[in-house]
Amino acid sequence: MSLSEKYKQAAMSLQMVQPFEGSRHVGWKSPSNIALVKYWGKREPQIPQNPSMSFTLSNSFTETSIEYSFYDKSGPKIHFTFEGKNELAFKKRIERFLESIIEYVPFVKQLELKIESVNSFPHSSGIASSASGMSAMALCLVSIENQLFGTLRNKSEFFEKASFLARLGSGSAARSVYGGFVVWGKHERLADTSDEVAVKVHVPGKDMWELGDAILITSSEKKKVSSSAGHDLMDHHPYAEARYEQAREHVPYLLEAMEANRDELFIRVVENEALSLHALMVNSNPGFSLMNNNTWSILEKVCDFRKDTGIFIAFTLDAGPNVHLIYRKKDKVQIKKFIEEKIIQFCENGYWIDDEMGGGPVELN
Ligand code: PMV
Repeated sequence: MSLSEKYKQAAMSLQMVQPFEGSRHVGWKSPSNIALVKYWGKREPQIPQNPSMSFTLSNSFTETSIEYSFYDKSGPKIHFTFEGKNELAFKKRIERFLESIIEYVPFVKQLELKIESVNSFPHSSGIASSASGMSAMALCLVSIENQLFGTLRNKSEFFEKASFLARLGSGSAARSVYGGFVVWGKHERLADTSDEVAVKVHVPGKDMWELGDAILITSSEKKKVSSSAGHDLMDHHPYAEARYEQAREHVPYLLEAMEANRDELFIRVVENEALSLHALMVNSNPGFSLMNNNTWSILEKVCDFRKDTGIFIAFTLDAGPNVHLIYRKKDKVQIKKFIEEKIIQFCENGYWIDDEMGGGPVELN
């Protein structure tokens, strides 16, 4: 049985909320993640065309708290503030998200929800907040389910449902409910992987793979083409099938590279993924590019630095012009020096975010 069917069945006993007085509270702090193998292209309902792999960050996160009370009309009734302000566009997105998942969490129809959300990174930094935002929201909803019905006391079931719901809000959000390295999307060679939820992957020689991520902001402007439009353009993309096959090969390559400490292979796969993603955008119809001149300058400097010093460093990009520098945490001093001396001039107002791999979401009291 698919997870979707399982949750639909289970939802039959989640229909009726016993009226209660006053309000209750849930809250989660959930981080963003950076994909090493990219998810680009999907089919309904938010099923990825290829498996992707990421690691979860630490300092770039969303904190969401929900105060909820019993609502005896047909709800849910929603109040939403982002960083203390009423943000209509965000509220609409949350409403659409709740509508899309209502069959899995029908109890929210009998609730009034006061949702407050804040990001650790500036809203206008060009950093996508959908992974952290949607995962924080999904975790709050499963916490509410647990408080009202006690159905998700088992930790792995709790996070599995959170990942399932987060995915329906934003594909990459499915991966943010777990710390460390995470795979989302069925891969026949990787046990337990699924298109419906993400799974944590265990990497041997873990100390070697404690990674830092320096997020270099080259532009904080709103993207001219959204991720959803980019995913849609993959539907008739001439290279779509080759791309999906490439990503299917890259996931085990990356795991093998980590297992055998093959740094060169790791770097080749990660950088190839970033460039492939952006090449797919250029080759879409209509084509577009989200990289800018500073993005290219940084990529060049990174390659020169690696060649000159032999230090492990790889660049990657999400769907935007900002560059993520992936490095080993033990090399942080040299990497910071490199950024300050050679890179900061390409960052908008010298801005970059010092992030690293993290342990996943944390419940807020
Ligand atoms: O989750 P979405 O729909 O915002 O798509 C994310 C797409 C990339 O960030 C480019 C790649 C990924 O796997 O995170």
